[in-house]
Amino acid sequence: MTDPRLPLDGLRFAFHTFGCQMNENDSERLAGYLAAAGAAPAGLIESADVVVVNTCSVRAKSEEKLYSLLGRLRTLKKRRPLLFGVVGCVAQLRKDMLPGLKSGVDFVVGFDQYPRIAEIIAESRGRKMIAASRSRGWKEGTVPPIRESAVSGFVTIMEGCDNFCAYCVVPFTRGREKFRPVEAVLAEVRDLAAHGFREIQLLGQNVNNYADSASGTDFADLLGRIAAVPGPEWIRFITSHPKNFTPSLARAMAATPKVCRQFHLPIQSGSSRVLERMKRGYSREDYLETVRTLRSLMPEIRLSADIIVGYPGETTEEFGETLSALAEIKFANIFSFCYSPRPLTAAARIADDVSTEVKRSRLMEVQALQKEIQTTFHKTMIGRTERVLCTGRSKKDPAVFAGRSEGNQVVNFRADRDVVGRFVDVEILSVGPYSLRGRAVSLYNK
Ligand code: 5AD
Ligand code: SF4
Repeated sequence: MTDPRLPLDGLRFAFHTFGCQMNENDSERLAGYLAAAGAAPAGLIESADVVVVNTCSVRAKSEEKLYSLLGRLRTLKKRRPLLFGVVGCVAQLRKDMLPGLKSGVDFVVGFDQYPRIAEIIAESRGRKMIAASRSRGWKEGTVPPIRESAVSGFVTIMEGCDNFCAYCVVPFTRGREKFRPVEAVLAEVRDLAAHGFREIQLLGQNVNNYADSASGTDFADLLGRIAAVPGPEWIRFITSHPKNFTPSLARAMAATPKVCRQFHLPIQSGSSRVLERMKRGYSREDYLETVRTLRSLMPEIRLSADIIVGYPGETTEEFGETLSALAEIKFANIFSFCYSPRPLTAAARIADDVSTEVKRSRLMEVQALQKEIQTTFHKTMIGRTERVLCTGRSKKDPAVFAGRSEGNQVVNFRADRDVVGRFVDVEILSVGPYSLRGRAVSLYNK
């Protein structure tokens, strides 16, 4: 039923989300605001009256993807009435340029204005609205998000970053570090628990720096508080910073079985000299020490990381140290990127002196080595049984279920009944470098 008093009454909306899980969760929250204003999800962009593009600016390539999508939307708009706009990191970074550029963009909404998105869209019918400013302090949302998954729920615990790593634009887009009060975090976790969610994924640019000063709660304490909420059985978190790692966090994880034995800890480079130039605040040896601490307390823990190749001045020898770090640590998974100069960052003021060809060949070398490490490791898992949270069905074959193991590996498997949303013990029968395949041997609980 529609309500003509609501500003977006009767409109159908769709999102296109680029970038990280933080953006995915933001889109879920923005969808909540649009629905509260009377709009309804359209499913596809093709059938929407309003399209919101949530953007990422972490690399030049991420930004370019936006401009090609805007082209498509402009074409669509020539054929029928359509409002579209940009939110997220590019909205923040390019707020003055975006509506110019003959872009057809109707609205640009910055992070702090998210609770006003419906109003801004309503006002933009007829004129462009630019709203992008940064403020300090956490602002709690006022309406529930519309979530993509009914199994695994994102909970943002902090936003922004104060680290200013030399290559990174995020402190300029997401702004200063803001921590969500512990009671608000717990209220959302309880709500997810009441709705039968099985897994909680805590989000933030730097979660292990979490501090709720009013209650004196740090990240290790927060994990304990969340684990005490009955219902969800797995807790994950991203992203952590090696510089803020403490042995007490590792001990808290080890003492809390609900916290998955998985840790995403971006190393970026295996060379202490490059790390110094990146202003990361730790050395190769510090990182290796952290890995030893985690593995001594939780031998089964699966580590993953982000890697940048071709950072300004990276020599063949320094790059070799990244390869040797990968060979030594044996990550379960990595995300690797060619360095890309970003506006406003410290690194953008120094020469981007590693050629595109060298960057590409280094990236291929990193990925080839990692593929070999993963293949070798996955082969050792054949015949073992892994507990998997089934999050849906395989896109390629709906008869196959898909999920993730506790270590965050992708597992595709067959089962004799519908197990979406359930924990399943899966016997691993065959493996590839990026996923495991098997069959359900038993359902775990409820
Ligand atoms: N160039 C390449 N990769 C980058 N990242 C962040 N900034 C850049 C950049 N300018 C990578 C880092 C980070 C991940 C989210 O993106 O590895 O951890
Ligand atoms: Fe960017 Fe560094 Fe902050 Fe991560 S910690 S968001 S890489 S500045």
